[in-house]
Amino acid sequence: MTVTIARQGEIAVVTVDNPPVNALSQALRQGLWDAVGTLDADPEVRAVVLICAGRTFIAGADVTEFGKPPQPPHLPDLVDRIEGAAKPWVAAIHGSALGGGFEVAMGCRFRVALPDASVGLPEVTLGIVPGASGTVRTPRLAGAELAVELVTSGRPMRAQKAAVSGLIDAVVTGDLLDGAVGFAREALTRPLPAPVSARPVAAPDAAFWAEKEKSVTKAAKGAAAPLRALDCLRKAVEAPFPEAMAYERATFLELRGSDQAAALRHVFFAERTAPRPAALRAVDPLPLRRAAVIGGGTMGAGIAAALRGAGLPVVLVERDDDAVARGIANLRGIFDGAVRRGRLGTAQAEELVSGVTATTDYAALADVDLVIEAVFEEIGVKQAVFEQLGRVCRADAVLATNTSYLDPRKIAAGVPGSERFIGLHFFSPANVMKLLEIVPVPETSEQVLATGFALARLLKKIPVRAGICEGFIGNRILKRYRAAAEALVRQGVAIAEIDAAMRAYGFAMGPFEAQDLGGLDIAYLQREGARAAGQDVPETLGDILVRAGRKGQKTGGGWYDYVPGDRKPQPSSTVTGLLAGQIAPVATMERNAIAAHLVAEMAAEGQAILTEAIAQLPADIDLVEIHGYGFPRWRGGPMFATGIRG
Ligand code: 3HC
Ligand code: NAI
Repeated sequence: MTVTIARQGEIAVVTVDNPPVNALSQALRQGLWDAVGTLDADPEVRAVVLICAGRTFIAGADVTEFGKPPQPPHLPDLVDRIEGAAKPWVAAIHGSALGGGFEVAMGCRFRVALPDASVGLPEVTLGIVPGASGTVRTPRLAGAELAVELVTSGRPMRAQKAAVSGLIDAVVTGDLLDGAVGFAREALTRPLPAPVSARPVAAPDAAFWAEKEKSVTKAAKGAAAPLRALDCLRKAVEAPFPEAMAYERATFLELRGSDQAAALRHVFFAERTAPRPAALRAVDPLPLRRAAVIGGGTMGAGIAAALRGAGLPVVLVERDDDAVARGIANLRGIFDGAVRRGRLGTAQAEELVSGVTATTDYAALADVDLVIEAVFEEIGVKQAVFEQLGRVCRADAVLATNTSYLDPRKIAAGVPGSERFIGLHFFSPANVMKLLEIVPVPETSEQVLATGFALARLLKKIPVRAGICEGFIGNRILKRYRAAAEALVRQGVAIAEIDAAMRAYGFAMGPFEAQDLGGLDIAYLQREGARAAGQDVPETLGDILVRAGRKGQKTGGGWYDYVPGDRKPQPSSTVTGLLAGQIAPVATMERNAIAAHLVAEMAAEGQAILTEAIAQLPADIDLVEIHGYGFPRWRGGPMFATGIRG
């Protein structure tokens, strides 16, 4: 049974139990529909508490039903029915009341929640708008300003803030059911408030909507749903309730069938499948209590910050005392930045830094469970590090490398017990970027592999398993993407046009401006290394620029010129001169065609990666591009966008 009814005197308790997240399947909607009828007909019942079993309140509509024709009872009708019930309903919220779940709660006459609960309308993150009164009832509860924030961002709000803003009536501590039943009894002693749909709402002026349109457009980065939600909210406060409801429903149904919604659903499920690979379900990961990082540079400091953020004590090993001091300064820099942006308190930052023991002494690693190496990208340096790790670490400690391009098998060669060796490829800045490529070597044990995935969950990252090849999944596709963009330049397409095309597609930056930001020298040195090792690596246009001293913004110019103190790229006549012999006369190409071509090139490399079993699923490649390389989420990733699914 998904819905059961019990009694505590004159209070009925309706319990929803529909694991894993009490999503509003047809059966659950029907169960609640019937419960209203049953309780309305019961003269002994004076009020109803709606509570959920399991880890959360109702987390929303059942997303798996979105591809199918809607089945009655429809959610908006159910919410109306609860609101119109003869007895007042009290929603008792733990975990999250999201989307349709929060809409059901708004149909109730009252809402109470535990302090760590949250409420929200995440529909825009699925490419849709709320479809059961979220845009219409929210402003009636909390005003237009807050409704715009909640609905257009999709971000949930914690109970305390929700109580202050009027979205919920009370925060209860202790036992939720007891608190909610007590609240219901108390409420029966006073006149009932009006149902939410009947409450007045103030309509802001046109300037309010103009300003919101600007800010929502900017934050949406090409996604359609947030602006459509804003439209519904305006209707909700300017038109009568039934008209606003009809408008919201029509928008919901239209967007539900859109390409963006399909893409965002694909990403939603991919993000939930990737962290728990079927092959590892029965494998227990090793415990992770203490971690270490070797190298406190860009990546090492970021990785140490991520580990501290997850509560692990960290040992940071550097090569000499100066480097130890720089490593700590790098780490402080990360936390100070978080303090400046208001994400951390000063005391918290201090606590995070003080949990790092920085040293040059490898003996400090004797009792760590996991070591992540992030020293220079040189095989000899890395091998020497692992030789020391083999001597000082416990035999069951997991030993990981963050190498970008080197062959982990060669790094592992000197490690005693290479079943505990693994590649964990973080992305810069490592404390921010969500992607973690997990790269086992042939000897890596299943338990160590499972520990890599457990680490990702601990750090709230998206793990993707990758096989061994140069650049693994992400950097290999990046190489193809950049080469394809260079090929267009050789054909005479303007550098700035290519960047503009990719921005219009939804990237924050095009391929050339991104290289200027990150520096052209890293990839150049990697190509030079391969050439020195005897590989046939053709000269790229980027090589010509680096040899002319143009390494990107840090040298005042790369693919573009930069005015000091300004990050805006300026087309460069120097670059035109340097590349003169290499590029064809000016060719025009539609921006859409440029983007389609470059995305198709990414997908073609993705296809090769699948064929070689470097990646397991097209969806994994999509996650890599979205979470590591800024591919627009609402396009679903290069594989999904080009029709390669499964
Ligand atoms: N429909 C169907 N399945 C869902 C679901 C949903 N709304 N939400 C989560 N699930 C599934 C997941 O796919 C996963 O399945 P799996 O175990 O087979 O992989 C399982 O539930 C657990 O999900 P999580 O791993 O995400 O669980 P957490 O405990 O980490 O998080 C949560 C719980 C915060 C509720 C999170 O699942 C979540 O954010 N869910 C989505 C909520 C949402 O977007 N709701 C709005 C839906 S749209 C809507 O309601 C439209 C309405 O306005 C008409
Ligand atoms: P970095 O040059 O900023 O830092 C390397 C650090 O390692 C320096 O602080 C150095 O003092 C230290 N080090 C060198 N030898 C050491 C030794 N024997 N013992 C202890 N410490 C030692 O380099 P960065 O960018 O942090 O890269 C580190 C690794 O991460 C490389 O393998 C790189 O390929 C990889 N990586 C880099 C990314 C990036 O965007 N920078 C992204 C993902 C991976």
